[in-house]
Amino acid sequence: MSDIVHVALPGRAYDIHIGAGLIGQAGALVAPLLKRPRVAVVADETVAALHLEALVAGLAAGGVSVQSTTLPAGEGTKGWEGLQACVDWLLEAKVERGDLVVAFGGGVIGDLVGFAAAILRRGVGFVQVPTTLLAQVDSSVGGKTGINARQGKNLIGAFHQPRLVIADTDLLGTLTQRDFLAGYGEVMKYGLLGDAGFFAWLEAHAPAMAAGDAAARVEAVRRCCRMKADIVLRDETEQGERALLNLGHTFGHALEAATGYSDRLLHGEGVAIGCALAFELSARMGLCAQETPSRVRAHLAEMGLKRSLADIPGPLPDADGLIALMGQDKKVRDGRLTFILARDIGDAYVEPEADPAALRAVLVEALAERR
Ligand code: GLY
Repeated sequence: MSDIVHVALPGRAYDIHIGAGLIGQAGALVAPLLKRPRVAVVADETVAALHLEALVAGLAAGGVSVQSTTLPAGEGTKGWEGLQACVDWLLEAKVERGDLVVAFGGGVIGDLVGFAAAILRRGVGFVQVPTTLLAQVDSSVGGKTGINARQGKNLIGAFHQPRLVIADTDLLGTLTQRDFLAGYGEVMKYGLLGDAGFFAWLEAHAPAMAAGDAAARVEAVRRCCRMKADIVLRDETEQGERALLNLGHTFGHALEAATGYSDRLLHGEGVAIGCALAFELSARMGLCAQETPSRVRAHLAEMGLKRSLADIPGPLPDADGLIALMGQDKKVRDGRLTFILARDIGDAYVEPEADPAALRAVLVEALAERR
């Protein structure tokens, strides 16, 4: 049960291997890319405790030796300090231009280590071994790397494509249900933004996938990676279409900022609620049918995912406060907020002129549900 998605970027093509138990074959997969048989692995502390031994054994089985270090789990690592610690260690480990750095963890580690690789010696290659559902379907693919700034998320970074992605779906088995479901917010996003057939497939199969169906997990990760690879091929540096992958993110990032990037709201949960709000806004602007947002919410409810502002514990700013937080979004152009809106499930588009009154009304209504 495994598959390969090829990302055919000219001069930077790479494969995404997806399947159960793949870290056991890591050495065989990585070795052909190496100039000398060693890699430097930077792992998330929690992931390392559970799976580093298996990754090292998998690399050794292909004749590849390993130097490794760990960084603390959590979004707090993805800043200047975490970057400095990572780059310092890679230099101490004498990683050379022709070597490969392996990022072993979720989105935080993938983004941070990818960025460290992008700037180390003006660029060394790296391999993504994503361990969360979110990272397997989204952040490990497509070469966006970076860190958070005091002013907002992901504001410092570089496009740096990995040389290989190994998505071992067995690793998803040690995620908490909450982390798995948060990652599912990104899976659902793909159906909503560009593939109504995939959304219908998810309505039928995602509950089994969440319950542990291994074949459904491989299939879902494969379909998301295929969609993402196709979008990245057409628009690597996000001049247009790639922004569709930010469906739900303008709302989601504002909610994450409002909750202090804390345990109150995980990134994927913010994306899930954000997708529901993006469909509410689309319906209010007369773009999609009134019942479409209810279908999105019903699916989130069936999956047991957060789906509205009422599901976020603790205080939130008012509608104007949330709109102000959206002002730091990377998609802001001439001070105007760009949203990813939808004409239907599977038919999203980039809207640079979202109706501010409709946006405010959607937020006022969503906040009222909290009372
Ligand atoms: N996660 C959005 C992108 O890679 O473009």
